[in-house]
Amino acid sequence: MTEQNFNSYNDKVMKRFLKPKNFGKIKNPDGTGSMGNQKCGDIMEISFKLGKDKKKIKEIRFQTWGCGAAIAASDALCEIAKAKTLSDAKKITNKDIIENLGGLPNVKLHCSVLGAGALHSAIKNYEGSKKK
Ligand code: FES
Repeated sequence: MTEQNFNSYNDKVMKRFLKPKNFGKIKNPDGTGSMGNQKCGDIMEISFKLGKDKKKIKEIRFQTWGCGAAIAASDALCEIAKAKTLSDAKKITNKDIIENLGGLPNVKLHCSVLGAGALHSAIKNYEGSKKK
């Protein structure tokens, strides 16, 4: 086994896990999306609201039925996505999230995929609602 094991969450991850700043659900969101993780069965939900000009993400929140790494990763994702245009937010990957967190244990890397996937699904939801 490598040095990174189940107990090797760094301080940044622990802080976001224990005191996430972006947990919750937005009232009257512009977009909502979710993603499930086939490996563990956990689910992530993202909701966001755009600014008045409808160009940038003004507020973004997450809810998860997932582990500590998923909570920390989603909280980091929300920070990364805030104030981004939707086209920039679409480019956010789990690698960006892992980098922002200063790393995750290898066995928890899959948990970071949920947030980015749910965000992309929420953006699709918004774009789909505009076409109607
Ligand atoms: S173990 Fe399911 S999201 Fe982390």
